[in-house]
Amino acid sequence: MPIIVHPNTQTFHLTNQTISYIFAVAPDGQLEHLYLGAKLHDREDYAYLTRRQLLGEQTASAFDQAVSPENQLFEYPEFGSGDMRLPAYQIQQENGSHISQFRYVDYQLTAGKPVLAGLPATYVDDPSEANTLTVHLRDELIATDLFLSYTLYENRPVITRSARFESQATTPLTLTEATSLTVDLPEQDYTMTTLVGAWAKERQINRHPLTTGIHSIGSMRGHSSAQYNPFVALAEPTATEHSGNVLGVTLLYSGNFQASVEADPYGGTRVKFGIHPHQFACRLDLEHRFQTPEAVMVIAQNGYNQMSQTFHQLFEQRLVRGPWRQKPRPILLNNWEGTYFDFNEDKLVALAEAGQKVGVELFVLDDGWFGKRDNDWAGLGDWQANLAKLPHGIKGLAERINALGMQFGLWFEPEMVNPDSDLYRAHPDWVLATPNREMSLSRHQYVLDFSKPEVVQAIGDQMLAVLDAANISYVKWDMNRSLTEVFSQGGAAADQGMVSHRYVLGVYALYERLRTAHPEILFESCASGGARFDASMLYYAPQAWTSDDTDAMERLKIQYGTSMLYPISSMGSHVSAVPNQQLGRTTPLATRAAVAYFGTFGYELDLTHLPEQELAELSRQVAFMKQHRQLLQFGTFYRLRSPFTGEHTSWMVVAKDQQSAIVGDYTRIGVVDPRTSALKLVGLDPDTNYRVNGKDAYYGSELMNAGIPITPLINAEHPADFSARVWVLERDSARLGGEH
Ligand code: DGJ
Repeated sequence: MPIIVHPNTQTFHLTNQTISYIFAVAPDGQLEHLYLGAKLHDREDYAYLTRRQLLGEQTASAFDQAVSPENQLFEYPEFGSGDMRLPAYQIQQENGSHISQFRYVDYQLTAGKPVLAGLPATYVDDPSEANTLTVHLRDELIATDLFLSYTLYENRPVITRSARFESQATTPLTLTEATSLTVDLPEQDYTMTTLVGAWAKERQINRHPLTTGIHSIGSMRGHSSAQYNPFVALAEPTATEHSGNVLGVTLLYSGNFQASVEADPYGGTRVKFGIHPHQFACRLDLEHRFQTPEAVMVIAQNGYNQMSQTFHQLFEQRLVRGPWRQKPRPILLNNWEGTYFDFNEDKLVALAEAGQKVGVELFVLDDGWFGKRDNDWAGLGDWQANLAKLPHGIKGLAERINALGMQFGLWFEPEMVNPDSDLYRAHPDWVLATPNREMSLSRHQYVLDFSKPEVVQAIGDQMLAVLDAANISYVKWDMNRSLTEVFSQGGAAADQGMVSHRYVLGVYALYERLRTAHPEILFESCASGGARFDASMLYYAPQAWTSDDTDAMERLKIQYGTSMLYPISSMGSHVSAVPNQQLGRTTPLATRAAVAYFGTFGYELDLTHLPEQELAELSRQVAFMKQHRQLLQFGTFYRLRSPFTGEHTSWMVVAKDQQSAIVGDYTRIGVVDPRTSALKLVGLDPDTNYRVNGKDAYYGSELMNAGIPITPLINAEHPADFSARVWVLERDSARLGGEH
């Protein structure tokens, strides 16, 4: 039984083959955290792991004058009774008090993992894959119950957590903060990693030693954001990509979030992750309960790569759902950077034909096909085809694309409306807007009030009318602005603190409705590129447009950073035209493809104007991707050399059976007279002999310890700047001579 309960000491030990997570009921009834890390032998009493002390001038516990709550490690800490660190939750009461004290009542163990209604969550296919412990606590004075849920996966170093508040109070209570997880660690010697960025430079690795104080990232934009991704990792300072203890945490949530790490002045560390408390307020009574989103914790003992691989496999196997789970992705051609708004049916078909000739499988029509949408000033909200551009509608266009032997995909931006739209003219009260105040426009659009079920219903009806009528295999769901003036027109004052959260639930509900109606559709989420690239989206859309920046060198950083948490199969990656439209940089076609191979792969440029020689190269690229996409998208991914620390970037994927691997190696800027060097690979079978690009063969032991030889590439025709090499390693049945 991987969740062991010791009734005499009221100790809970969550343990599998590799990890242990331990807590116990303290004498005052709070849950005291005891341990998180590599597997420990089980024992009935871990009291030696408690931190019960009173240090100079600290406030003593009301239950034990020799103990200060400020030193104790807690599972879900309260505030106001001596623990001065960041709390897990806050409840405002009728008399103005914020003090609450939840005390242990009982627990429940279940095989498997219950679903979280209306929220995305990791899941199990079979109850034997995981066990769930739910601990029940109660604050009698405010007649409120708290349920803390812990799921331990049997074969993964993963624990998921969430909390639920239920109340029978007859006086008003408002939950003003409810985090999904807090973890108290007794040490402080950590390196902290977050993923930060902005539009077109999403998820750059930000790593620094933890110092005393509160280090916090988050979003108050209404979506998870390009600026701060919902992820934080704490590692021992000596950890590398391949060794050392790393704790990684993420939140399955697409809205406002906050992740804080408090390194307190006494040498402890509190990690806290949940919905951002800013302007959050939830009534608690018999009709209003609150379920937090799920937090996922990975406890890796072999470095950052192992943490990432654990997230990748969990997300690929037990977060993505439906027929696209672990299924290689179609190679697509998207018209956006090729045509922008300037297209008609014949132009699109000509573009698709050019794609078909090089082997592309899916043609995607991006923004501009609906309403009066000839630029980004009008049309959002009117999801009917613009017949001036597409005289036979979406159905007619899809039929012409299908006749080429290709699948057809379509772009929507469901959550938005332009003031210049029939929808807005008919329903001005359907947007987020604060009474009697100016409304902020962004990209000439307002945000629809998805906290209102009737709005979600109406947009869903429009979308389904299109999806039901035509043969559509793929949908790109875009979202191009942040939320402002967050207020639901006509809503009760007491409910306004829930608008941001209900907005997110509305997004999830619409995704779920569309998925249920068309389970075969492949969804790709997008938000001005990667401004909502978070784990919860993968529950609905197995892939996400990684960034609007398609420059190969910038993409190295973006994809490398994104790989900290998200699988290769989830990263939308396209070859685009040069000079690059975001940066003006010109990189070789081969390099652009060599970067895009490590993702879903596709094109986003006007193929009708490419020279024959480049089209021939595209055909070879498409053939390469078709041959290797299973391995590229679902192999075990390793980061080798970081674009954040030098001119070289390298990464590789290894097949699960270790019989093949593919390495990508990229140089940003070359140097004069480079020495011959070697790149040490990882994850191979030392005794397997691998043929490299069909030529020389080397044993895994050689490739991992001596390295794959890199002969310098430098001459006027092939400068090292912006160059790439791709090595395909395949098991060679003919053995090399010599000992191994
Ligand atoms: C932003 C997306 O990131 C682009 O790929 C494209 O779909 C545009 N929106 C269309 O408006």
